[in-house]
Amino acid sequence: MGIAEGRVVVVTGAGRGLGRAHALAFAAEGAKVVVNDLGVGADGAGASQSPAEEVVAEIRAAGGEAVAHGGDIATTEGAASLVATAVDVFGGLDTLVNNAGFLRDRMLVNLDEDDWDAVLRVHLKGHFLVLKHAAQWWRAEAKAGRRRAARVVNTSSGAGLLGSVGQGNYSAAKAGIVGLTLVASAEMGRYGVQVNALAPAARTRMTEQTFAETMAAPEAGAFDAMAPENVSPLVVWLGSDASAGVTGRVFEAEAGRITVMEGWRPGPTADKGARWTPAEAGEAASKLLARAEAPMPVYGAR
Ligand SMILES: NC(=O)c1ccc[n+]([C@@H]2O[C@H](COP(=O)([O-])OP(=O)(O)OC[C@H]3O[C@@H](n4cnc5c(N)ncnc54)[C@H](O)[C@@H]3O)[C@@H](O)[C@H]2O)c1
Repeated sequence: MGIAEGRVVVVTGAGRGLGRAHALAFAAEGAKVVVNDLGVGADGAGASQSPAEEVVAEIRAAGGEAVAHGGDIATTEGAASLVATAVDVFGGLDTLVNNAGFLRDRMLVNLDEDDWDAVLRVHLKGHFLVLKHAAQWWRAEAKAGRRRAARVVNTSSGAGLLGSVGQGNYSAAKAGIVGLTLVASAEMGRYGVQVNALAPAARTRMTEQTFAETMAAPEAGAFDAMAPENVSPLVVWLGSDASAGVTGRVFEAEAGRITVMEGWRPGPTADKGARWTPAEAGEAASKLLARAEAPMPVYGAR
């Protein structure tokens, strides 16, 4: 018995890269998988059904069950029809992995409004819309007395947790996904839904050029640390029954390493019990900063 035996799993952006690895890993553990992918270029342009269909063919060739969905997850129609595909074809939905997205990297001074909108749309709105339609289905099931061990894994990024130079749009979207994850976890627990987020790192078309050295494949026979398949086992566990009790958490996963990321919490604090003058506020803030932990460096900052 696989760890995801019989579960119905939707993975967005599963035609390539990390999403493909997650879809194959879920299928290998006995899940029925809806492979969503719009088949866009690296900057989000164009569309093709082939990537999703190829992954479905791979899963079936290995004896698994899968169906393709070629819709745009950042539209209501795409998100709703994705959830409906899981329900119509496989009779329900147990796990949603929000993963689809693309980059439009620029320094902020050169970042066009269109590139801001496109990246916020695909990542943040794309997470929200599918999550919302899945949540509506899970709530209806729970109210009808058919509560499921439902699981959502959202995809953030180190760029969203720490910031990344040249990726203001992407960092904002990925930080937003963490906030969305915390709220969804708090709101949806009553329907049996657990929601966690992942910050992965792996060699895909998104990273193989920009971080060519870090992402390079090793000599034959050595552990291929940056293979996307190394991220998927944690995603499969989070998306399974076995992760009961784990919700509202953020993990980093890359190579053989899994890290629980610990987020914002109050540090040094001072309370005057009355309004500060600006000069007093500055003096107090300086003293607090002297006692506070230094922030982690922003990726790419010198
Ligand atoms: N590769 C990394 O190191 C890394 C690091 C941090 C976060 N991530 C995140 O992981 C996720 C997967 O990225 P990847 O590296 O595998 O990239 P990728 O480009 O290989 O895969 C992304 C897939 O999403 C699909 N997609 C894009 N827009 C879509 C839409 N509107 N509807 C449906 N599908 C759509 C693309 O067609 C593509 O197949 C992304 O959210 C990315 O931001 C990746």
